[in-house]
Amino acid sequence: MTASSASAAADKPGTFVAGDKTFLLNDEPFVVKAAEVHYPRIPKEYWEHRIEMCKALGMNTLCLYVFWNIHEPKEGEFDFTGNNDIAEFCRLAQKHGMYVIVRPGPYVCAEWEMGGLPWWLLKKKDIKLREQDPYFMERVKIFENEVGKQLAPLTIQNGGPIIMVQVENEYGSYGTDKPYVSAIRDIVKEAGFDKVALFQCDWSSNFTNNGLDDLVWTMNFGTGANIDNQFKKLKELRPNSPLMCSEFWSGWFDKWGANHETRKADDMVAGIDEMLSKGISFSLYMTHGGTSFGHWAGANSPGFAPDVTSYDYDAPITEWGAVTPKYYLLRETLQKYSDKKLPAVPKAKPIIAVPQFEITEFAPLQAGVQKTVESRDVQTMEALDMGWGSMQYTTTLPAIPAGATLAINDAHDYAQVFINGKYIGKIDRVKNEKVISIPACKAGDKLTILIEAMGRINFGRAIKDFKGITESVKISANVDGHDVTYDLKNWTIDLIPDDFAVAEAAFTAGSSQAKAGERGYYRGYFDVKKPGDTFLDFSTWGKGQVWVNGHPLGRIWSIGPQQTLYVPGPWLNKGRNEVVVLDIAGPKALTVAGLKEPKLDNLNLEKNNLHNNPGDRPDLNSDTPVAAGSFKPGNGWQTVKFASPAKGRYLCIEALNTQSGADVAAIAELYALDGKGQRLSREPWTAKYADSENDAQGNHTLDKVYDLQESTYWATVPGVAAPHLIVIDLGSEQTLSGIDYLPRAEQGAPGSIKDYKIYLRK
Ligand code: GLA
Ligand code: CA
Repeated sequence: MTASSASAAADKPGTFVAGDKTFLLNDEPFVVKAAEVHYPRIPKEYWEHRIEMCKALGMNTLCLYVFWNIHEPKEGEFDFTGNNDIAEFCRLAQKHGMYVIVRPGPYVCAEWEMGGLPWWLLKKKDIKLREQDPYFMERVKIFENEVGKQLAPLTIQNGGPIIMVQVENEYGSYGTDKPYVSAIRDIVKEAGFDKVALFQCDWSSNFTNNGLDDLVWTMNFGTGANIDNQFKKLKELRPNSPLMCSEFWSGWFDKWGANHETRKADDMVAGIDEMLSKGISFSLYMTHGGTSFGHWAGANSPGFAPDVTSYDYDAPITEWGAVTPKYYLLRETLQKYSDKKLPAVPKAKPIIAVPQFEITEFAPLQAGVQKTVESRDVQTMEALDMGWGSMQYTTTLPAIPAGATLAINDAHDYAQVFINGKYIGKIDRVKNEKVISIPACKAGDKLTILIEAMGRINFGRAIKDFKGITESVKISANVDGHDVTYDLKNWTIDLIPDDFAVAEAAFTAGSSQAKAGERGYYRGYFDVKKPGDTFLDFSTWGKGQVWVNGHPLGRIWSIGPQQTLYVPGPWLNKGRNEVVVLDIAGPKALTVAGLKEPKLDNLNLEKNNLHNNPGDRPDLNSDTPVAAGSFKPGNGWQTVKFASPAKGRYLCIEALNTQSGADVAAIAELYALDGKGQRLSREPWTAKYADSENDAQGNHTLDKVYDLQESTYWATVPGVAAPHLIVIDLGSEQTLSGIDYLPRAEQGAPGSIKDYKIYLRK
């Protein structure tokens, strides 16, 4: 290690640039070993502890996003104080001799509500996000200038720890628009980041689409990826560029209703070892994931896949800041590449267990209504100027005969339907539900739809994710032999924000003895002798949010996999502590237990996530394939062109065998190409059938072939022999001219298919 890299992150002005095949820190070669951590996911009291943990791991840099939506909660009102004091975070890093990489968005993804964009942008209904929409760009400029005020004085050129600043985030996974990316670069420069090294991060498959000549290009990929292959294209285009993996995924995020994700420590550390042996810089995403407190967890798509509250990520440092075997294994490797003995691992924070207690007080959900609006048409949450929470839509029904169905277009996100106050059923966006059967109704009966919003989508084109009911509510019935559709109008719309103050006011207005099974606010108390970190177990509760002493802990949902919430010790009092639960579905029992460990992997589903219903398997015996042939071995995208364009709704791919001859078949991503060879949107896609899916060892279900993530994949269960069949419902009939296929990103593309047959069915 050189003198400059061993010394503390400078307090005198310095330089950091991309040199010949290496970064140069104060003119000396420098390998960036960055730990990605997110300040809003760590209570401020613990920032310094986590920074020291990263340093003791062997990292020399911290990498962080700037989350626009926590800094500008209302248009024009900025907050960089307390847990939002990002400059303080950077100063703490510097105090411990760590450099900083800042990724100020405006879009950050990060499994964070709307990818960091503020919801109020959606008040302009026709806004174009992450494009040169004048209003969007105006707000981005104002925000980045505020970031500049906080952080530009802390760049290395000004004696601070910040060595690099990122422009946008993985724009290639969103679109192709160099003028937009250039405009963001200019805004970032004008905000005060004009001398610091600027870079853009993308995937090896798409970084050329938006690559700007004057920025450093870095690649993002995950544990297991074939590293040489990931940098192949970059090396061709820029043989003298330093190499950096700007996001090496240590684990993965969890969504509600699927298994907890893990990635093997050995594989992760092998990747870091390989990169260091080749002088490749990296940022380990996440080194410490922390928690998406309150309502800040985002969602993925296609298929609405909201993320759980824990952002543990199976990272080397746990959600609550503890070490793991992964941590020690990685530390050994980082020690190998450091000429100084790494500092001692900081002491863990104390963990306590709170004895089980009962929640005793209740206030009805109705007491949380802050505003009521009368409207002919349904309106979205954003149109009614609310960011988060629940909405209640009520209207008067005409006479409806038996056998009718109610369709909500679309319910964002979890809708419960009531007639005259009686619960009829739910329409859950996570399950792609749109329709529910309703009983016969008399004219004048009251229909109420209670909708809870979850996190806004943070990835892909679907980030423009309005909440509430987006279009319409319709009833289809058969009246005297005729099909009739009622487009319901004249709504009373109640707004129930999910603020703690609203919950408190509901209790002030009046409370009663709590009973299980009701929808509303619950309040209870527990005693603590000596505060410490703990986990509260909500397995017997329904769906909603929790606060302890007014601090938002996050969302709960009985389906799991997360059943406990992390409570940071600094948020607890010695003596009495208050817990408030907003439960929009109703608890089964009123108990809460304090545990010393979280429950992050306890699924509790009505039906498993497999797509192997024999009735959904098409009989292809008399069908003619639209294509048949062999894929090439190895990593990277391949295209199959059909002999002539064909029409159909169900895309069936039969894997006759695999390249290696082993029985496990896998696909990372698939696209269908339209008549002109262009990739079709996969938003309307659903997984119809797969004869085999491995969701016992990871979440390798069929939906993984269109989840927009190249590092996730569908895989069959070991021991189940080929041929394998998958069927995707394209949502409607399409004309296809071919498909794009991506095997797994790992060395040798394990599970890649050799001979295939493709069918298209009506
Ligand atoms: C991408 C994004 C990150 C995060 C990861 C997945 O790389 O840039 O913000 O969403 O995927 O965890
Ligand atoms: Ca995938």
